[in-house]
Amino acid sequence: MPHSRDARPGRLDGIAQALDVLRCPVCGEPFDVVGGSLRCGAAHSFDVARQGYVSLLDGRSGALRADTADMVAARDRVHSAGVFDPVVDAAAQVGAVAIVGAHPGRRPLVLDAGAGGGHYLRAVLREAADRGADARGLGIDLSRQCARALVRGEPAVTAVTADIWRGLPVADDCVAVLLSIFSPRNAAEFARVLSPDGRLIVVRPLPGHLGEIIAPMHMLSVDDAKTARVHAALDDHVEVLVENELTYSVRIPAPVVADLAGMGPSAFHLDAGQIDALAHALAGDGVVEVTVSVAITVCGRSA
Ligand SMILES: C[S@@+](CC[C@H](N)C(=O)[O-])C[C@H]1O[C@@H](n2cnc3c(N)ncnc32)[C@H](O)[C@@H]1O
Repeated sequence: MPHSRDARPGRLDGIAQALDVLRCPVCGEPFDVVGGSLRCGAAHSFDVARQGYVSLLDGRSGALRADTADMVAARDRVHSAGVFDPVVDAAAQVGAVAIVGAHPGRRPLVLDAGAGGGHYLRAVLREAADRGADARGLGIDLSRQCARALVRGEPAVTAVTADIWRGLPVADDCVAVLLSIFSPRNAAEFARVLSPDGRLIVVRPLPGHLGEIIAPMHMLSVDDAKTARVHAALDDHVEVLVENELTYSVRIPAPVVADLAGMGPSAFHLDAGQIDALAHALAGDGVVEVTVSVAITVCGRSA
């Protein structure tokens, strides 16, 4: 870790494990730790929050709506209910394989862009550890509620708030595995930060995803043209190596239906009472059979 004048234990530990790859969002310079802040060579300074994450938002992303604490809690309950377990497992397997095959030299970095609470990031790190590889994790999200959730979990990861659309505040060529899971995709930036043998893993919903609850719960649907749009955006910057579709059904009760709606953009235009009422109208005291249908795309750097 570069020069540090902060003797407080704990708060900076999470930042320290990724300090070498973090870059100033204003000028792209590396950081030193100075007091409780990260400061670059051009004296741009960013405080490390007392919870242990650092905000590298540069103030120009104000119009974007970040996930709220209620949304983060709803997503956590959905993951705890196992709704996405097969997706988490699939991403973890692909990510761990890429880490194990990563170029030896430095501790492989897994970057989750739009990490939410870090369920996928941690699953990749755990799976890699099970295969004997020691990787480190960095979660980036627009939402400070997500950053707080990221720093709370195990295994420990570094958490940063930043806006993917404005660029990733990390160095070129340093990422062994980049996760982009149900999150905004900035393919040019993904290509910039990926190491030469790194892998980008994109998970996106397919048109049938959550189909049984989309209309009743006033959720956004996935249109048929999305696949072409995603590929067009990726193809300009990375090489698609393999794409698999994963489709299965889950039987879920009303509270989980409500959480599936409450963890997404519906929560911005419906309140919790409205979401609960819709979920109970749909599931009553029973369960709803819901389809999970996603594409898992693995990309490498373009030749
Ligand atoms: C649907 S959630 C997915 C979270 C996580 N990948 C998962 O699947 O559990 C999308 C995430 O992207 C984050 N996000 C949205 N816009 C963003 C942006 N411009 N920059 C960074 N993160 C963003 C949200 O805060 C949210 O945590």
